[in-house]
Amino acid sequence: MKALILVGGFGTRLRPLTLSMPKPLVDFANKPMILHQIEALKAAGVSEVILAINYQPEVMLNFLKEFEKKLEIKITCSQETEPLGTAGPLALARDKLIDESGEPFFVLNSDVISEYPLTEMIKFHNSHGGEASIMVTKVDEPSKYGVVVIEEATGKVEKFVEKPKIFVGNKINAGIYLLNPSVLDRIQLRPTSIEKEVFPEIAAENKLYAMVLPGFWMDIGQPKDYITGLRLYLDSLRKTSSSKLATGSHIVGNVLVDESAVIEDGCLIGPDVVIGPGCTIESGVRLSRCTVMRGVRIKKHACISSSIIGWHSPVGRWARVENMTILGEDVHVGDEVYSNGGVVLPHKEIKFSILKPEIVM
Ligand code: GDD
Ligand code: MG
Repeated sequence: MKALILVGGFGTRLRPLTLSMPKPLVDFANKPMILHQIEALKAAGVSEVILAINYQPEVMLNFLKEFEKKLEIKITCSQETEPLGTAGPLALARDKLIDESGEPFFVLNSDVISEYPLTEMIKFHNSHGGEASIMVTKVDEPSKYGVVVIEEATGKVEKFVEKPKIFVGNKINAGIYLLNPSVLDRIQLRPTSIEKEVFPEIAAENKLYAMVLPGFWMDIGQPKDYITGLRLYLDSLRKTSSSKLATGSHIVGNVLVDESAVIEDGCLIGPDVVIGPGCTIESGVRLSRCTVMRGVRIKKHACISSSIIGWHSPVGRWARVENMTILGEDVHVGDEVYSNGGVVLPHKEIKFSILKPEIVM
């Protein structure tokens, strides 16, 4: 089986992290986002993943080479010379997606995280005899997404409306599809949207089916949603493989710590914290609802909450970092500095407090 991941886009909403690397390579729970997907695809029987990409393919491919071997999966690129939207890339990769088997293939948005019940999805797809299956999930604010109205008993999609202005329903497109090769005959090689042009057409012919996604789901393409996604992911890890989570009197709730990280005495860590490889958390530090990426040193008695600390960014003693502060790569936060929602570009030194949410360039 094959799969295509829609990787394009510049990830502007996840800056400053995406100034250092393409969004799919940004770590989520100590693993590049895209690796969560590739692993799930492999487990569901996919042997080749095609990355539909419109910039920096070399960076992605070089990075993923190591995992190609480790996971025994083929990873290739299909590069656009102009952004082709969410459907055009499928037409571009047509020859790679179709083979003699005539099997359906997966298509994933690259910025969503879930438990990826892909094996269940294959079963669902085979059971309804339609042309395409999509996963849907319930959200509180459906207007940001593609809204799907389904016939409850069968899962048949009656309507697909991308980013509706008026309320249509609260089940939304989760960005995980399983498509028969015949869907490719509906897509031309030009910038085009699968949500606005392809799905409504298949739904009108009664050949589009939706499966309600079991478990959690989040689009993690924005900092606030990234932090919420971490909480949901750690919750789910607690249920499926709780032995991966940290334990001890200094741990509160769900905390994931890379085995190479060092936590000194007198810290209080959690809930919903991820600590990356090579990090040092010095004594007396308090961390909650945050992620600390590879190679970070948090100095004595610093306090961090609801924030993302980018790769190799030291945080000074008695510093207080909170309220959606996002530190890019290699940002140096001085001793006793307070950051209230600062978004700091890579390689900066922060000597003075950031008193209200703002971008520091
Ligand atoms: N190759 C390529 N080329 N990929 C693209 C392009 C392009 O021109 N444009 C967007 N993508 C990729 C993005 O990188 C992302 O993985 C995916 O297509 C969806 O694009 P987003 O920009 O993230 O769309 P969205 O979040 O506003 O909406 C989409 O996702 C929602 C779920 O998170 C839609 O699919 C909605 O229907 C859906 O509910
Ligand atoms: Mg998105």
